[in-house]
Formats: sequence, C-alpha cells, structure tokens
Amino acid sequence: MSTDTPYTSDTLKELTPEATESRRVVVLISGHGGNLQALIDEQTHERLGGEIVAVISNVPDVYGLQRARDAGIDAVVLPHTEYESREAYDGALIKVIERHEPDLVVLAGFMRVLTARFVHRFAGRMLNIHPSLLPAYRGLNTHAKALADGVSEHGCSVHFVTEELDGGPVVIQAVVQVSADETEATLKEKVHAREHLIYPIAVKWFLEGRLQLEGDTATLDSTPLPPQGLRLSHADAAEELDEE
Ligand code: GRF
Repeated sequence: MSTDTPYTSDTLKELTPEATESRRVVVLISGHGGNLQALIDEQTHERLGGEIVAVISNVPDVYGLQRARDAGIDAVVLPHTEYESREAYDGALIKVIERHEPDLVVLAGFMRVLTARFVHRFAGRMLNIHPSLLPAYRGLNTHAKALADGVSEHGCSVHFVTEELDGGPVVIQAVVQVSADETEATLKEKVHAREHLIYPIAVKWFLEGRLQLEGDTATLDSTPLPPQGLRLSHADAAEELDEE
C-alpha cells in the first residue's frame, strides 16, 4: 500500500479480526493433565471462549498427551532431556509454541523453571495454576507444608506468569478448609477439584478479553484485582463441587 492511499472502510474491515475467529490456546503439561481435562471439558461444551490448538509436554508418554489426542488436539512431545541447557530448551519451546500462534499460553502442571527470555516472550498472555493460596507456599510440596504448619485454610491460585517463580499477579483463588483429620492425599484431592473449577474461569476471562495484565496488576473488566485475586470461599467451592 502506498503511503498516500486513503483509508477506506474496506481497508479497516480487512484489519479487523472476524468476530467469530476463535482465540487460540496452547497448553503446556508434564504429567497427568487433570487441569488440561477441565479445560477440554469446557471447550467441548463451548464454554471456554477459545480453542486449545496444541498440548505440549516436556515428558514423553504422560497421560495428559492421551487426553489431548482423545479430544482431537495436536499433542506434541518436546523432551527437555534432549537439550543441553535450559536456554536451548526454552528457545526450542518458544518456536514450537509460536508455530501454533497462541493468544494464550496455559501452564497446567508444567514442571519446569522458565528462563527470563521465555517468560518475556509470552508476558501478559501466560497463566499458571499453583496448589496453594499464594503468596503462601511457593514451589513444591505445598500440601505437606500446609499440613506441617497446621494451617486452617489452604487452596489454589491462578496467576499471570512473571520471572518470579509462582510470584506473578494472582487472578483467582479457591479456598479449602483443612479439617482435623486431613491427610496429604485428601487435601490434594480437594485442592485439585478446586483447581479444575477456577482454571477454566480464568482462561475464559482472558479469552473474552476481560482479564489483562496491566503493568504489575491483573485487571478484570479494567478494574484492578486485589493482590490475592478474586477469592472463592470454601463454602461456595464446596457447594459448586457437591462436597459434603
Ligand atoms: C496441579 O496441582 C497444579 O496446581 C500444579 O501441578 C499439578 C498438575 O496436575 N501446577 P494435573 O497434571 O493438571 O493433573
């Protein structure tokens, strides 16, 4: 187009994405894929607000890959063991992800520490779910740590991914009350059920354009979310999940 070409309504139409165009999601996993399945289930019912176009695992033969194939989603294995450095692996992963042109990258049990380059590449369009009420218990073994501390409340958080491990702005949390006879296994099960409740909600908000990262703050409908995101209480989550 020459610089003196006047802008016409036709030109603008070409530049405006089709309203019906589906927003594209790439999901990264390392294992079982319970959260992936929750997202697939929403997509099946046309409630996700977008389409999972690829699932990528750094570990071969995990069940999450089978879940993707069963849903007709491109399942890709990119083993980190075949790369000599974290930088080399993340560089390769960026290429594979970008081939799928995602609007959103969803980390769903992707057990890797990410390089700064990777995080920056998908800044503001990458979400993670973590099994604790952040900022409590970043890192691994969150259920055991919560039990050892004797806390009365535990839960899970969806957050934007930043360079700080499990430290990005929180979008939504769900609380579980820790009962007197709780074991690591029972706690884990209850937290997982809550994860499967809140992750699709956050993904949908993002795909609908309601959820954004503005600077260091997550906003929903242009309103800054509180530091710990929106909170689903134990009672509300339990009711939603038909727990006793
Ligand atoms: C979940 O507990 C999630 O919070 C953590 O990894 C686990 C993945 O489980 N990041 P799954 O593979 O989604 O079942």
